[in-house]
Amino acid sequence: MTTIQVSSLMKTFNIYRKQPGIMGSLGSLIKRSYTTFTAVNDISFSIEEGELVGFIGPNGAGKTTTLKMLSGLLYPTSGKITVLGYTPFERKPEFLKKISLVMGQKNQLWWDLPPMESFLLNKEIYEVTNDRFKTVLSELTHLMGIEDILNVQVRNLSLGQRMKCELIAQLIHSPRILFLDEPTIGLDVVMQKKLRDFIREYNRQYKATVILTSHYMDDVKELCKRVIVIDHGKLLFDGQLDKVIKKYSRHKLLSIIFSDPPPIHELESLGQIILHEGQQIHLEIEREKSNEIAAHLLKTYAIADLNIEEPPIEEIIRSLFSEKK
Ligand SMILES: Nc1ncnc2c1ncn2[C@@H]1O[C@H](COP(=O)(O)OP(=O)(O)OP(=O)(O)O)[C@@H](O)[C@H]1O
Ligand SMILES: [Mg+2]
Repeated sequence: MTTIQVSSLMKTFNIYRKQPGIMGSLGSLIKRSYTTFTAVNDISFSIEEGELVGFIGPNGAGKTTTLKMLSGLLYPTSGKITVLGYTPFERKPEFLKKISLVMGQKNQLWWDLPPMESFLLNKEIYEVTNDRFKTVLSELTHLMGIEDILNVQVRNLSLGQRMKCELIAQLIHSPRILFLDEPTIGLDVVMQKKLRDFIREYNRQYKATVILTSHYMDDVKELCKRVIVIDHGKLLFDGQLDKVIKKYSRHKLLSIIFSDPPPIHELESLGQIILHEGQQIHLEIEREKSNEIAAHLLKTYAIADLNIEEPPIEEIIRSLFSEKK
C-alpha cells in the first residue's frame, strides 16, 4: 500500500535582501526587496508502507525542507503531498497521531525535567491509554537499554542517552511513519550503531515506514535498500542503493597482497594506486576492465590474496554531487 505520495513538490522561500550599510537599512524600510530561492524543485516519489528509505544529499539540498513538508510543518509552494491519505499541512489530529518527526539537531525534550516527564506529556498530547503507554514504554526502554536513566534530568544526560530519549518520546504514540532527520548526528560509532539497530528493529516490529536522512553513509548502507538522492532541490536518483553504485561508479577497487615486492611500475599503468604498504596494494581500476586486469595479474605474478571490491559509497555519492554542479 502506498503510504506517501509526492508529486511535483516545490518549496520556494522569499529571502529578504538588505542593502549594505545604514542607507541600505533605511532604504529597506521604504522598499523591501526579496529574492526567491527554490529549496525543493519539482520532486516526485512514492513510498510503500513499511519501507525504510534513505534520503541523501549534500548540505542545503532540501532534505529537511522536504521532511518538514511531509510532516506538515511547512506549507508547500506547489505540488501535492498525500501521507496516509491526509494532506499534511492541514495538521489534522488524526494525522499527527500517526506520524513523528525526529530531528537530531533539535532538542524536543524538556531540558530541566527527566525524560519520563516528557514521555508522560506526550502520552497526554497523543491521548495514549495508560496500559498502552506502559507497554510501549517498557518495550522501547528495553530495546534502547536505558531503563536506569528515565528519572535523570535531561541536561545531565550524555548526547547519546538524550538522543535515545528523544526517539522514545516521539514513539510513545506508536507512529505509523517516522521521519528521522539526522538521528545519529554527533554520536560516536558505537552509539550510532545502537541507534541504527533500534531503527531497524522498530521498522521490523511495528511495520512502520521510516524515512531517514543522514550524512553518515553507514546509516544508509546498513538500513536502507532504497535511497532518494537530492541535490539543489532536485531529485537525482531514486532506487536501490546497489544500483546507485552500479550506475555512478566507473571504478572498482582491486585489493591485492603480493607474495613478492609489487610490480609498481606496471600497476601504475593499469590504474591508480590508492594504497601501498609493503606487499599490499589497493589499485583503482576501470570497472569494465576489472576482471581482465585481475586475471592478468594472477597469471603473471605470485599473489597471496586478491579481491575485487566496490569503491566506498561515500566516494560514489561525492563524485555524483560534484558532477552535477
Ligand atoms: N525558512 C527558510 N528561509 C529561507 N531559506 C531556507 C529556509 N529553510 C531552508 N532554507 C534554505 O533551503 C535550502 C535547503 O535547506 P534544507 O535545510 O532543506 O537542506 P538540507 O538538505 O536539510 O541540508 P543539511 O544536510 O545541511 O541539513 C538551504 O539553502 C536553506 O538555506
Ligand atoms: Mg537538514
